[in-house]
Amino acid sequence: MTLCPDSTLSLVSPSISDCQQVAPLKLGIMASGNGSNFDVVAQAIQDGQLNAQIQVLIYNNPSAKAAVRAANRGVEAVLLNHRNYKSREEFDEKIVQTLRHYDVEWVILAGWMRLVTSVFIDAFPERIINIHPSLLPSFKGIHAVEQALASGVKITGCTAHITCLEMDSGPILMQAAVPVLPDDTAETLHARIQIQEHRILPLAIALAASS
Ligand code: GAR
Repeated sequence: MTLCPDSTLSLVSPSISDCQQVAPLKLGIMASGNGSNFDVVAQAIQDGQLNAQIQVLIYNNPSAKAAVRAANRGVEAVLLNHRNYKSREEFDEKIVQTLRHYDVEWVILAGWMRLVTSVFIDAFPERIINIHPSLLPSFKGIHAVEQALASGVKITGCTAHITCLEMDSGPILMQAAVPVLPDDTAETLHARIQIQEHRILPLAIALAASS
């Protein structure tokens, strides 16, 4: 596959120009809410920029807009509601079972707002990619954008990384920097961070798969 970052990606690191990969990656995407990152991965595939196919979307909130986006794109979506499981481990076992059923090779956490256990991590070693709205290791966890604003940093951004057991940790694949503007709110800043997330996530998937 060929990915050609243009000059507007100058705040993205690393940049990759060419990833050779023959068979399409079999992706399972997991999302809790809006699903814009699901959509950009699907669009990158449709545009021929990412050699992959989405085997399934797993979502955990019945009202997640991600499920609507999946339906619009003809992607199978499975609701696994964590509220119906006795423990995180039991929930993760069901997730693993579902991903295996759909023959998934790489898992993308695209706005998945649940802590994961070793049951899940160990089932897909170094094959789970997370997108997070900060320059990790700063501002882990929920409300990362609010944390950045409250801290007074002048630059924040987003990170795509391989997922480890510790929350929002693991080898970094790509990052993009975003300036914090004087009158930013969490909403305006998050919106600009998401533009960068949408740029780096498909690139980071290709990069991870090529190494
Ligand atoms: C994204 O900003 C993503 O970085 C964040 O949730 C949002 C989901 O947006 N994930 C986390 O905070 C995980 N710790 P989306 O539903 O529009 O893709």
